[in-house]
Amino acid sequence: MEPRWPLAWDPDHTINGEDVTMNSTIPDLGSYQTLELDLADGVLTLTVNRPEALNALSQQVVADLWKAFTAIQDSCTHDAGWPVRGVIVTGAGGKAFVAGADIREMSSMDPEAASGYGRSMHAVTLLIEKLPVPVIAAVDGFALGGGCEFALACDFIYASEAAQFGQPEVNLGLVPGFGGSVRLPQRVGLGPARELIYTGRRIDAAAALRLGLVNRVLPTREALFDAARATLGEIAGKAPAAVGLAKQSITGATGRSTAKGLEVEAEAFREAFTTEDMREGTTAFLEKRKAVFAGK
Ligand code: CAA
Repeated sequence: MEPRWPLAWDPDHTINGEDVTMNSTIPDLGSYQTLELDLADGVLTLTVNRPEALNALSQQVVADLWKAFTAIQDSCTHDAGWPVRGVIVTGAGGKAFVAGADIREMSSMDPEAASGYGRSMHAVTLLIEKLPVPVIAAVDGFALGGGCEFALACDFIYASEAAQFGQPEVNLGLVPGFGGSVRLPQRVGLGPARELIYTGRRIDAAAALRLGLVNRVLPTREALFDAARATLGEIAGKAPAAVGLAKQSITGATGRSTAKGLEVEAEAFREAFTTEDMREGTTAFLEKRKAVFAGK
């Protein structure tokens, strides 16, 4: 018999008293040279583990991220029983989230190799945006250049008070290459994004909060992870397909005209009506009881 993944929010598989067991099996998410993956209580924590280089995104890290997010995607479906309900992305060592693309490797790249490197990380960030579960970047320490861009591909960012953000590429004769010229203006607006990118200036967590780059600032690393897990736990109590469709709708509409964006939303709205959870959610409301979502 297939082992059941224990969605161990508590021993009865409940979150806030609601049964969240969805007959899921333990997913095989693979093993990686540069990443650590830890799946607990339906929350997958993905840690970039190169503290000696402040978790810089070497070509090996990018390859590992591609493989890992492909495997995670396969675990984010109702067929798989939704064993992964949310992802936290972070960096090892306590000093940096990710200090950028790997400057040592880039120093000897020719334009073609650099283009392949950039496009590979673009593909990873698109994969993150397509994942039908929320991804939170938990930033403690430096999130610079490619590190800031990696965080920007996540649904939102929580930061510790020790976090620092920036796009310092111009200091190196470079420009953002992992999505910063697109996603930073989307997140904070054109003016602030231009200023950050042209100056290469670093900002602290409080300034990042004021800009809307981060959603929340927590006092310590521990509080940061507690907050990220609590938010993902709260979201896990909702209908997973609805959350996935909401993400798909927001991602799909971003950067489009209003009319095109509304088309994307209309498709997601229609799709929600094909799910059992939508029938359950609306029926439960009318019957004045709590909905029990089956993840279908
Ligand atoms: N790539 C490769 N190695 C890096 C790195 C990076 N982005 N950032 C730090 N490291 C390495 C350092 O070389 C150093 O290694 P050694 O011990 O072997 O010398 C180690 O990590 C520790 O770093 P520091 O000694 O520099 O630590 P610090 O506390 O003095 O400074 C820092 C910390 C301010 C973050 C500094 O390391 C720094 O400025 N790093 C580079 C940040 C940066 O410019 N990032 C953007 C890269 S370009 C980019 O990302 C392009 C893109 O958009 C795709």
